[in-house]
Amino acid sequence: MSEPILRVEGLRVGFDHPLGKVQAVDNVSFTLVRGERFGLAGESGSGKSTLALAILRMIKPPGRIEAGEVWLAGTRLADLNEEGMRTLRLAGIALVPQGSMNSLNPVLRIGRQITDAFADHRLHLTRDEEERRVVALLAAVGLPENVVRMYPHELSGGMKQRACIAIATCLGPRVIIADEPTSALDVVVQRQVMATLVRVQQELGAAVILIGHDMGLMAQFVDRLGVMYAGRLVEVAPIARIITRPRHPYTQALIASLPSLETRGAFAGIPGLRPRCATCRRAAPSTRAARWRRTAAALRNPCCAVSKTPK
Ligand SMILES: Nc1ncnc2c1ncn2[C@@H]1O[C@H](COP(=O)(O)OP(=O)(O)OP(=O)(O)O)[C@@H](O)[C@H]1O
Ligand SMILES: [Mg+2]
Repeated sequence: MSEPILRVEGLRVGFDHPLGKVQAVDNVSFTLVRGERFGLAGESGSGKSTLALAILRMIKPPGRIEAGEVWLAGTRLADLNEEGMRTLRLAGIALVPQGSMNSLNPVLRIGRQITDAFADHRLHLTRDEEERRVVALLAAVGLPENVVRMYPHELSGGMKQRACIAIATCLGPRVIIADEPTSALDVVVQRQVMATLVRVQQELGAAVILIGHDMGLMAQFVDRLGVMYAGRLVEVAPIARIITRPRHPYTQALIASLPSLETRGAFAGIPGLRPRCATCRRAAPSTRAARWRRTAAALRNPCCAVSKTPK
């Protein structure tokens, strides 16, 4: 894990607005090594999605890339023409855009949405090959074969998000940028989707940029974290260092907002307020009878069986 695969140098993006210019991305530089999982956190409006779009040269007016360079392995993206960039998106760097599960084409079956990506990239596959690849892609994200013929409205949120990961990774990219891939999902499905993303990433040997706000997820899934604030990358460090010794005041505030064991302990003294199951939000039982009821409930609801309710 040492070969640089993506290098971003001094990237600046501005949006012209009648009330003045918004400097959405301000002199951002970072490097990603092969197979690395890099998190990008920061408050809403700090420029995370704009940075992702700028890496792929997908900023539209009134936005403009004002400065900076992006390198994918030995290729300087600025040297590519539009056709070269089109090939690079998906085949080199894939984006799972923010809210992508809601922007699947509602009138096309999932299988067709994947084969359209093959066609866009002029992969001349036979029908059999196409079908085999689509089924394999769906299997890689844990979706059954019959999803090929389903429409987006027939899938749950988690399934839709997995389908988006399958579409984004259908050409075996070297970098996957996932912009808040789990924000609209419940915690159990969030973790399943993240596990899917990690599995696909490992199979491809790709690097990942995971954009999000959830520091719990970041702590579990990324090697390094970059923190954005007002368009700037204000702190980059291994995730363990960020959690234990955050340096920038915004990172400190982000870490301080996490519930800790001490703050959960503080709930114990408040009458009527009992610790709750982190998954189903039911209060922890206090009597033996309630414990039995919880066991029965856990059998019906597996999430309770795996969650640890604080005593
Ligand atoms: N099309 C646009 N026109 C004008 N300003 C824009 C446009 N798109 C983004 N911006 C501005 O750029 C800044 C960064 O926005 P961006 O969407 O990148 O933030 P973000 O960190 O992804 O936020 P969130 O966490 O809410 O997704 C914001 O101030 C936003 O208002
Ligand atoms: Mg965003």
